Amino acid sequence: MNIIIAKDYDTLGRIAATRFAAQVIQKPNAVLGFATGSSPLSTYAAMIKLYREGIVDFSKARTFNLDEYCGLSRDHEQSYYKFMFDNLFTHINVDPKNVHLPDGLAKDFSAHCREYEAEIDAAGGIDLQILGIGTNGHIGFNEPEPAFSPITHRVALTENTIRDNQRFFKSFDDVPKFALSMGIGSIMRARSIVLVASGKSKAEVIKGMVKGEITPDLPASILQLHCDVTVVLDSAAASLL
Ligand code: GLP
Repeated sequence: MNIIIAKDYDTLGRIAATRFAAQVIQKPNAVLGFATGSSPLSTYAAMIKLYREGIVDFSKARTFNLDEYCGLSRDHEQSYYKFMFDNLFTHINVDPKNVHLPDGLAKDFSAHCREYEAEIDAAGGIDLQILGIGTNGHIGFNEPEPAFSPITHRVALTENTIRDNQRFFKSFDDVPKFALSMGIGSIMRARSIVLVASGKSKAEVIKGMVKGEITPDLPASILQLHCDVTVVLDSAAASLL
């Protein structure tokens, strides 16, 4: 793993965004893997700035998001679809036709997950994937489980994750209990990965991910086996390394 320690959250975002810009400059129709959560927000803000400055053109880029809550419509305040449009897609020239997120209202989740995976394959696979990390080591919504999940699938969220995400909803009961998520296998098939993390609350899990045993108990630990992972941290998240 390449580890970069940035002086603060904004700098971390500028570093990660530069990596994305370089990818799209090199390959205009690159397949970009996007994530939600607070971790990538400074990266998205920096990507928007690079677009406005005319440094990068996203018009041919294809995008696939990691995950979506089950049961939320795309226009729900907390859907990841809305998050992505509010925080990135509306502000850059990505073609909405090229945007893909799992559909949390799909009638047949298994069939939809298989189709999503097939769409990623048909696009040629993900060139560059951004990841955040949950405090329990989840990536996407791949929670600690007895085994690593190979493909996009339906996940039961852990109590830890529901509590972490409760801040965006009125109450614990309002947080969806299931999600659709790319699998660990789907993430590992991305050619390059950038994981961003900031703040003291991520320090322990970052230490486990980088230095600990590779185990499905800490799903992000599998990234130790990927040949092109860059971890961009602020000093608080890196404080236990
Ligand atoms: C959610 C998302 C993850 C994200 C995680 C951490 O559970 N599904 O992709 O990495 O939250 O969120 P944050 O970046 O807000 O700490």
